[in-house]
Amino acid sequence: MPSAIVAGATGILGREIVFELSRSPQQWPTVHALSRSKKEEYPNNVIHHHIDLQSSASEMASSLQNVRCEYVFFAAYLQKDSEQENWDVNGALMSNFLEALVTTGAMRDVKRILLVTGAKQYGVHLGAVKNPMLESDPWLTGPEWPPNFYYNQQNILREFCSTHNKEWTVTYPNDVIGYAYGNFMNLALAIAIYASVTRELGQELVFPGAPEFYTKFDSFTSSKLHAEFCAWAALEPRAANEAFNVVNGDTESWQNLWPKVASRFDVKVKPDQFASAAGAWTKVIKDRLPASLTSHGDKNQPTSTPLYKKPPVSAIAPSVGLEGHPITTQSNLVKQIDLVQWAQREDVKSAWQTIAKRDSVREDALEKATWDFLQFVLSRDYDLVISMSKARKAGWTGYVDSWESLDGAFTELEKNGVVPT
Ligand SMILES: NC(=O)c1ccc[n+]([C@@H]2O[C@H](COP(=O)([O-])OP(=O)(O)OC[C@H]3O[C@@H](n4cnc5c(N)ncnc54)[C@H](OP(=O)(O)O)[C@@H]3O)[C@@H](O)[C@H]2O)c1
Repeated sequence: MPSAIVAGATGILGREIVFELSRSPQQWPTVHALSRSKKEEYPNNVIHHHIDLQSSASEMASSLQNVRCEYVFFAAYLQKDSEQENWDVNGALMSNFLEALVTTGAMRDVKRILLVTGAKQYGVHLGAVKNPMLESDPWLTGPEWPPNFYYNQQNILREFCSTHNKEWTVTYPNDVIGYAYGNFMNLALAIAIYASVTRELGQELVFPGAPEFYTKFDSFTSSKLHAEFCAWAALEPRAANEAFNVVNGDTESWQNLWPKVASRFDVKVKPDQFASAAGAWTKVIKDRLPASLTSHGDKNQPTSTPLYKKPPVSAIAPSVGLEGHPITTQSNLVKQIDLVQWAQREDVKSAWQTIAKRDSVREDALEKATWDFLQFVLSRDYDLVISMSKARKAGWTGYVDSWESLDGAFTELEKNGVVPT
């Protein structure tokens, strides 16, 4: 029976891979979980190793002397300020780690290496994308596009596997719903705190992102479903040397999810949550290229930040007949409420302190929540529809309802004493 190494074992995606594999001890008798920190206890078939993937390959090799495995799952990630730094740092994390396994001799037994990346593959962080997103869509390379660290990681992986005669699989999750604490991108934790504080302040729940996005589509990835996918793909012959989108299988929008969030946290959605902003956001939509709109503090007037100078969909515009279409002009992030500023407001901090003391939950959760990431997820002004056809054709049948996965993530945050029940 095979053993596995999971790098990034405390992350929102890696953590679930560790737990998913550990649930089948007959299939996976030993799971080596690797990260710098150790945040929780593991089942008996999991061995945790403290390791710094930023150290040299030889240093890592000396910490991994007796670690052997047939399958490697790489879900480690370090968020940097620029795309070039992300490219350099995350590429080096993975290549040094793979070299370390060559040095220890562990690579001899490895059959397949699975790399977790994401929908930035399609430039979802740059602006409007072609919908639905397909694994066969062209990569955004060349001098007109910023560096994309997923391309670097995938090129390193493919070259390494070709040199060492190994198989690889890559996953592209999007807007992950799951449990983690103190990580870089975690939308469930920030939403849970936003809703809990809103209730504590006796207010109605206002969607902080783009009014336009409220009725557009997004595709989410449950970290649990993604872990099941990884366990399946590692052993599936049809997944060898292929990259796959991994999303829940439904397509959601906040007009459907936001009222459920409100009800879950016992608050009411503000019925006219976009009314005070209506004039301003109509202007945003009309102009599509505002440098910025004036912020009017708490009046929920949207502010707009332009994204990359041209959206990814513009790369294919001539071939699909979209040249000159408004979707090919620069996209924007449109905020009704600036969540980073909101989380620093005195009334918000004091409400969270009251909640934390009264309900014995983590006081530092307000700072640990990734407000900038939630803001980004809610403030885009374009659809994100990700196709699961390729995975389905390869035999994958997994599916989860996105609201149920979000509800489950809230429950896990409650059980772990992060947010109040
Ligand atoms: N979260 C999302 O919503 C999302 C969406 C789409 C795609 N993705 C992609 O999924 C991949 C995994 O991201 P994630 O969100 O799961 O990351 P995450 O939750 O921030 O976790 C990162 C993991 O990497 C480990 N790590 C970071 N630096 C390390 C180092 N120097 N040495 C050892 N371990 C290190 C961390 O452990 P320690 O800190 O304990 O070392 C942690 O286990 C990334 O490519 C990300 O872009 C994420």
